[in-house]
Amino acid sequence: MTAPAYHLLGVSGSLRANGFSTAVLAALAGAAADRATFEFADIGAVPHFNQDLYRDPLPEPVAHLRAQVERCDGLVIASPEYNHGVPGTLKNALDWVSRPHNGSPLKDKPVLIVTSSPAFTGGVRAQYQIRETVVSALARPVNTPEIVIGLVHSKIVDGRFSDAASIAFALEGLATMFGEIDRERRTEA
Ligand SMILES: Cc1cc2nc3c(=O)[nH]c(=O)nc-3n(C[C@H](O)[C@H](O)[C@H](O)COP(=O)(O)O)c2cc1C
Repeated sequence: MTAPAYHLLGVSGSLRANGFSTAVLAALAGAAADRATFEFADIGAVPHFNQDLYRDPLPEPVAHLRAQVERCDGLVIASPEYNHGVPGTLKNALDWVSRPHNGSPLKDKPVLIVTSSPAFTGGVRAQYQIRETVVSALARPVNTPEIVIGLVHSKIVDGRFSDAASIAFALEGLATMFGEIDRERRTEA
């Protein structure tokens, strides 16, 4: 068996202990374990963004998050939708890693976006807001059919996200991201 070729940062937009988004992220990481290692961000530990705090030394949770983004080959964001938008905690974390503009840890990083919701709309409105934020930070949202998981509560069994069709669909998005990382590596070689 060959070692996983990619190292990814998983970011859940939910702080809830049994959050569906976190379960989706865990399922995806498990399904891709032969190709990618994952580490996970703790965005709940990150303080509210305050430009006065954006100086040396950065708050420790911010420095940690930025280091995680720097060392990963790409990010997988799995998020709920709050009031038709991106959860504030997730936006806050992305703001912290988006600076300095044109030189941030996010610059040129591929980002796969997955949203889910108990509603059939699957968090699609949040999906577009996350995409805009990622683009603003000069990261590269993976161009793949939107991975939007509706009725997510019905796809959790014993706390695990267990919908094979959704996982297979998300894995196609991951494969697209791996292709992008490979292309980037060939360019750098
Ligand atoms: C403040 C708040 C706002 C919400 N707004 C939406 C919404 O706009 N669209 C939606 O599909 N679900 C909405 N929901 C329901 C969430 O999709 C649901 O609570 C979901 O389980 C949260 O994701 P999680 O399980 O990953 O924590 C909202 C929930 C909360 C707490």
